Amino acid sequence: MKKTIFYAAVIIAITNCCTVFAQASKKSADAIDIKVNALLAKMTLEEKVGQLNQYTSDKDATGPVSKSSNKLEEIKQGRLGSMLNVRGAADTRIVQETAMQSRLKIPLLFGLDVIHGYRVTFPIPLAEAASWDLEAMELSARVAAREASASGIHWTFAPMVDISRDPRWGRIMEGAGEDPYLGSLIAKARIHGFQGKGLGNLDAVMACAKHFAAYGAALAGRDYNSVDMSDRLLWEVYLPPFKAALDAGAATFMNSFNDLNGIPATGNSYLQRDILKDKWNFKGFVVSDWGSIGEMVAHGYAKDSYEAARLALTAGSDMDMESRSYIGNLTKLVKDKKVSIALIDDAVKRILRKKYELGLFDDPYRFSDVEREKKELNSPENRQAAREVAKKSIVLLKNDNQVLPLSKNLKTIAVIGPLAKSNTDMKGFWSVDWDNDKLVSLYEGIENKLGNTKLLYAKGCEISDSTQTGFSEAVAIAKQADVVIVAVGEAFNMSGEAKSRSNIHIPGVQEELIKVLQATGKPVVVLVMAGRPLIFNWTADHVPSILYTWWLGSEAGNAMADVLFGDYNPAGKLPISFPRSEGQIPVFYSSKSTGRPSMNDKDIVYKSAYLDLPNSPKFAFGHGLSYTSFKYSDLKLSKNKISQKEALTATFTLTNTGKYAGEEVAQLYLQDMVASVTRPVKELKDFRKIMLAAGESKTITFIIDKEKLSFYDQKMKWGAEAGDFNLMIGTASNNILLSSKFELID
Ligand code: BGC
Repeated sequence: MKKTIFYAAVIIAITNCCTVFAQASKKSADAIDIKVNALLAKMTLEEKVGQLNQYTSDKDATGPVSKSSNKLEEIKQGRLGSMLNVRGAADTRIVQETAMQSRLKIPLLFGLDVIHGYRVTFPIPLAEAASWDLEAMELSARVAAREASASGIHWTFAPMVDISRDPRWGRIMEGAGEDPYLGSLIAKARIHGFQGKGLGNLDAVMACAKHFAAYGAALAGRDYNSVDMSDRLLWEVYLPPFKAALDAGAATFMNSFNDLNGIPATGNSYLQRDILKDKWNFKGFVVSDWGSIGEMVAHGYAKDSYEAARLALTAGSDMDMESRSYIGNLTKLVKDKKVSIALIDDAVKRILRKKYELGLFDDPYRFSDVEREKKELNSPENRQAAREVAKKSIVLLKNDNQVLPLSKNLKTIAVIGPLAKSNTDMKGFWSVDWDNDKLVSLYEGIENKLGNTKLLYAKGCEISDSTQTGFSEAVAIAKQADVVIVAVGEAFNMSGEAKSRSNIHIPGVQEELIKVLQATGKPVVVLVMAGRPLIFNWTADHVPSILYTWWLGSEAGNAMADVLFGDYNPAGKLPISFPRSEGQIPVFYSSKSTGRPSMNDKDIVYKSAYLDLPNSPKFAFGHGLSYTSFKYSDLKLSKNKISQKEALTATFTLTNTGKYAGEEVAQLYLQDMVASVTRPVKELKDFRKIMLAAGESKTITFIIDKEKLSFYDQKMKWGAEAGDFNLMIGTASNNILLSSKFELID
C-alpha cells in the first residue's frame, strides 16, 4: 500500500504538466462509470448477455453466416449489442431506430472492416508500410475514419498489427510486414489516425488492434492454422505492435483464429487476461474473431458451444462475433454457476463504456447523417490524400541504365499486361465501399498524364491461365513503341483472408510474357501489382526497371503515372524481405548468426546454408531506390562508451548526389554482439525519412539509449547488458554504409 502511494506520488510529480488533462479525462471516465453502473443495475441477465452479442448483416460476410432468427426482432428484445457490415447513414439509422425500441434503448455499435479506406480506397496496408511514412499512414487512417464515421460506422476492425514473415499467408497484405519496430510505429500511427482527437468526436471511429495474437505466424503460411512459438519470439516480435497499439489508446482488440501453443487465442487466458487486461491494464473490450468462439469446438478444445462460451468469456473475450455461443449459452452458464455474474458484468461494462464515450447515449444517430455523408465520401480532398499515399507506397526495386523516369515527350508507349487496364484489382482485398468507375487503372493514369504520346495497348495474357495466344499481338505493339510498360501481378482476390498460396511466383504465364517483350530489345519497365511479396527471379535479373506497386487503391493509375514520368521521385522501402524461392520461407533480415554462419552466398561447406540457393533474399528488407543517389558520410558517435543511464548520439551527413530532389529513408540497425541469449545480427532501431534537394546535405542524428539496447534476458526480464554493440546505418538492411562499435558499461 505504502509503495503504491509512493509510486503514485512520483508519477504525479513527473507528469505535472499533464495533470490537468489527466484529471479532466479521469473526471469524465468517472462520470461515465457512474452512468454505466446505473444502467447495469437496471439490466436483466438476458439484456447483459445481449450486449455481448454481435451479428453481421447479410452484406459483406467474411465467414459463414449463422442461420438466423429475425435479427431486427432480436434487436428490439435487447439481444444484440453490435452489428457488423451495416453501413451507410440511412441504413445504420434504420437499424438504430430498432434498437431504440428496446426496453432500455441501448444503442448498437456498428462495426466494419475499414482496412484501407472506406469509399476512397487507399493502398493496402502492406503497401502503405512501404512508405515508411508515419504521417502518411496516419492520414490514410484519418480519411478512412472521416468517411466511415460519416456513413454511420462507429468502429473499424483495424489496424491489423500482426507481424508476418510468411508471404504465403494471404493476410500479409493487411499488416505492416516483418519487423516489430517498424510495425509498432505503424500501429501507433494508424490508431491515432482512426481515433483522431479521441472517441466522441464525430470523425473518430474506434480502432481495433487485431488479431491477438500471433496469427501472422500460422504454420506453413496456411490461414487459420496453428501457431507454436516460444514466449521469447512472442514477446520480442509478435506482441510489440499490440503493446504500441494499446499505448496509443486502441479502444478495442480482436482475438485470433489460431491456437497458440495448444490453446485457441479466443479461449486463451494467458493472452487476454494475464497479458492484455492484467499486465497491460487494457480498459477497452475484446471482440472475438468471426465465429472463433464456436470454432473452439472444431479445434477440439471445447465439447460444444456451451463449453466454448464458458471458456471464451472466462479467458477474456468480451463480445461474440457471429458464433451465437454467448447468446445461446451465457444465461444458462450463469444459472448453472459455471460463469460468474461478475465476469459478465465486467464484459458488459467495457462495452457500455465505449458506447458512452462515442456519445451514442446522447444521440444514437449522431454518425448517421446523410448530408455529411454526401459531402465526405469520395471528396476531391480525400482522393488527393489517396494519391499522395499511393505515390509514397511504390518501391523502385531496380533502375539499371536509368530507364526511369520516362520522358513525357515519348512518341509511342506500349502498355501491356493483364493488369494494365484493370480497375477492379487496384482496390485490393478488404475494400468495402468502392466504386469501380472511380478506380483509376494504370492505362488511365498514363492517359491522364500525357498529351501527345500515342498509347498502344495489348493484354498479352490473363493473370492466371496458361494461354499464350495474346503474346504475338503484345510483341507487335511493343516493336512499334519507344518504351514498353508491362503490368503484371495478382488479381485482387489472390491475397487476403483465406487466400494463402503455396506458390508465390508471378502467376500464370505473365513472366513468359515479360520474356518475349524483353526480347524485342525495347526498354522495358515492369510494374508488379500484388498483395504480397512475389517471386520473379528472371524478371529481377533481366529487366532493367522494376516498380513494385502493390495494390494502390482508388488513385492507383495516377500515382503510378506520377512515378513513371518523374512527377514524384519514388522513396518506398520494402517492409518485408522478398524470397528467391518458397523454400527459403521464412526469410527475414533480423536472423540469428548460428554457430556456423555462412559469410556470403558462396560460403556453404558445412555452413548454415542451402546447397541450391543463397541465404539472402532476392530483395532485402529496407531496400528501395530513388531516381537520385545518396551519399552517407562522416559518422560520429558522441561517445564510445556509455553507462546504462546515458545515451549516445550517432551523427552523420546525408547528401543527395544525384540530379533530382528526393527522399531517403536512412535506417539505423544495432547488434548486441555478445549477450546472455543470442541476439539477431541486426535489428532496426530507428529511421529518418529526409527530403533533400539535388546537391543538398543534411546532418542526421540518431539517439541510442538503454531502451534501444534492451531485450528479454534468460528469465524474460527486460533490460540491457553490458558489452559491445555494433551500430550500422544504411539505405537497406543489406546495404550498410556506415558502422561503428560502442560499449555499454554497467
Ligand atoms: C477476419 C477479421 C474481420 C472479421 C469481420 C474475420 O474473418 O478475420 O479480421 O475483422 O472477419 O469481417
